Amino acid sequence: MRCFLVGAALLLAACQTPAPRPAETNPVDVHSFARPDRVRVRHLTLDVALDFDQRQVRGTATLALERIDQAAPLRLDTMDLHIAAVRGDDGEPREHRLGTRDPQLGMPLEIDLRPGDRNVTIEYRTHPGAAALQWLDADQTDARQGPFLYTQGQAILTRSWIPLQDSPGVRITYDARVAAPEGLAVVMAAGERSRDSDGTHRFRMTRPIPAYLLALACGTLASRDISPRCAVWAEPSIVEKAAAELSDMDDMLAACERLFGPYRWDRYDVLVLPPAFPFGGMENPTLTFATPTILAGDKSLVALIAHELAHSWSGNLVTNATWRDFWLNEGFTVYLEHRIMEEIYGRERAEMEILLGLQGLEKELAELPAADQVLHVDLEGRNPDDGMTSVPYDKGAAFLRLLEERFGRERFDAFLSAWFDEHAFESVTTGHFLVYLQENLLAHDPAAAAGIDVDRWVRRPGLPSAAPRPRSPRLEAVEASVQRWRDGGDQADLAALGAGDWTTHEWLRFLATLPADIHADELARLDARFALTKSGNSEILAAWLERATIAGYAPAAPALEEFLLRVGRRKFLKPLYEALVKSPPQAGVDGLTRARATYARARPRYHAVARRTLDDLLGVEEEGS
Ligand code: BES
Ligand code: ZN
Repeated sequence: MRCFLVGAALLLAACQTPAPRPAETNPVDVHSFARPDRVRVRHLTLDVALDFDQRQVRGTATLALERIDQAAPLRLDTMDLHIAAVRGDDGEPREHRLGTRDPQLGMPLEIDLRPGDRNVTIEYRTHPGAAALQWLDADQTDARQGPFLYTQGQAILTRSWIPLQDSPGVRITYDARVAAPEGLAVVMAAGERSRDSDGTHRFRMTRPIPAYLLALACGTLASRDISPRCAVWAEPSIVEKAAAELSDMDDMLAACERLFGPYRWDRYDVLVLPPAFPFGGMENPTLTFATPTILAGDKSLVALIAHELAHSWSGNLVTNATWRDFWLNEGFTVYLEHRIMEEIYGRERAEMEILLGLQGLEKELAELPAADQVLHVDLEGRNPDDGMTSVPYDKGAAFLRLLEERFGRERFDAFLSAWFDEHAFESVTTGHFLVYLQENLLAHDPAAAAGIDVDRWVRRPGLPSAAPRPRSPRLEAVEASVQRWRDGGDQADLAALGAGDWTTHEWLRFLATLPADIHADELARLDARFALTKSGNSEILAAWLERATIAGYAPAAPALEEFLLRVGRRKFLKPLYEALVKSPPQAGVDGLTRARATYARARPRYHAVARRTLDDLLGVEEEGS
C-alpha cells in the first residue's frame, strides 16, 4: 500500500483496521531508481583510494543483497560515476547497463544477477565534479597547509560517490577501507575507526543507516575530547576554539537522553569543517559535520549542535522514508532542539529561538507558492532540495509544540519516546506517523485532541493560527525600543536603544525589525556606535550586511565581498546575493552586475549545492562541472 496516500478518511478507518507497519510497506521514492522491493542492498563494503590530484575517489563497492524477487535484476542509483566492472561472488563479470541520465537523479545502474548471487562488486571511479565531494585547495582551509575533502550525502548526492540504493527507505550497515595521502587524517561517520599497519583507514558502522548519512572527510585534523563519549574535530589551528565553543555537547546529549530515550550510537563527535561547507550542520551519525560560522566565541550559536545532535533520534534513528516526509526529520528535530536548548540554557533563550524561527517561517510563507507550504509536500519531478524551506522545519516543529501544549509535556514526551523506540532503525512515512499519532495520542484523550486539525497542518498551506506562540519579554523590549528610537527622529539617541547588553538573539530581532527603507545614514550611525560591519558573529554580520547592502551603505561593501569569498554557507549566501541584486547602483554599476562579478570570483569556491541555488538566482548557465 502507498502509505503517503493515507488521508483523513483513512485515519478514521485506521481506528478499526490494524495500522500498517513500516516493514510491510515499500513507499515509492520518486527520487531513486532502486527497486528495493525486489532486490535490497543490506550491507556495503567500501574499498577506495582518495586521489587529490585527479579529484577522484576510486575503488570497489561490494553490496550484500537480499533477493526478494529471485528473477529481478539489482537496480542502483549512480550520478556521474564511471563503472569499470561488475562482478559476482565467483569473481566473474555480470551483465550491467547504465540507463538514461536524468539531470536531477543521475542514472540507474541495472545489474543482472545469477541465481546464487548474494554479493556484487562494482569497480568504479567518481567524476572530478561529483556533487557529493568537495575538494578544497589549501587556501580554502584555515591553516592553508594542505588540501581537504569532505562528502555531503543529503539529499540524493551519495550516488555521486558510491553506487548504491540511494533512498532513505533503504538502510544498510557498512565497513570501509580508505587509502589517503600520507599525513592526512581520514574520518567517517561510523562508530568504529581504526588504522591498519600500512596506514589504511578502517571504519565500521554496525547500525543500519540510509545512504544519505554516509560521510567521509580527509584533511589536516586534530581532535579534543569533551567527555569520554564526545570529541571535537577540526583543523589544528581552530580546534581549541571549537572545543571551547562546543563544551556543552555532552550535557546536550544527556539532556536529550533524559527527555527522549537512550542514545543509540555510542559516540557523538562534531567535525568543524572549512567555511566552504554549504550547510550549517549535517547530522552524519556519530560525527556531525558543522560550519565554522557557529564559532561565535560566546556559545550563542550552538543551537545548531543541539539540532544536529537531536537528529540522532529524529532522522538517523527514525528516518523519513521518502523526501516528501522530510518534515518527520526536520520538524521533529527543531522541536527536540528547542527542548534541549531549554534544558541547558533555560526557557528564556529557548523561547527567543522559537520566536526567531517563527519569524523566519512567516517571512518565507509570504513568498512560497501554496503547494510548498504543506508539510507533506509533493516533490515529484523536482530536486528534493526544493523541499528544504522553513516549512518542514518550523511549521513542523510548531505542530509538535501544539500537541505538547494540548496533551502536556509528560504525555507528549512519553509519546515521542515511544515513537522513537518502536521505530528505531526504521524508515517511516507521514502516513505511518499520522496513524501512530491517532492511535497513541489523539484517541486516548478526545477532549485534548478536539480542535487539532491534523489534516490542515499536514496537507494545507499556511501556518494555522493555533500554532503556539511563546512570549519573549526581551524580544518585545527590542521591538519597543526600535519603535521609540524611530519615533525620536533625527535626534533619537542610540543609547535609548538599550543595546548595551543585548544577546545575539536580540540583535537578530533588532536587525529583522529595522524598516525596509532605512536610510544608509542611519545605518552609518548604528555602525559607528556598534561596529556591526566588524561583528565576529556570523549570524549578526550576515543579517547586518543584508540590510546594509540593500540600503546602499557603502562601507559594508568590502566586508560583504570578503564574506562572500570566504563563506560557502548557502543560508547566508542566498539572501546576501539577493540583497546585492536589489542594491542601488554604485559608480554607475547596477546591483545585478556587481552580484555577478563577485559570484564569478567566488563560485569555484562554493559547493555544488550552493552553486545550484545561486546559478538559478543570478541567471548563470551551469558550465560542465
Ligand atoms: N539535515 C539538515 C541539512 C540538510 C537538509 C542537508 C537537506 C541537505 C538537504 C541539517 O540537519 C540542517 O537542518 N541544518 C540546518 C541547521 C539547523 C539548525 C536548522 C542548516 O544547515 O542550516
Ligand atoms: Zn536538520
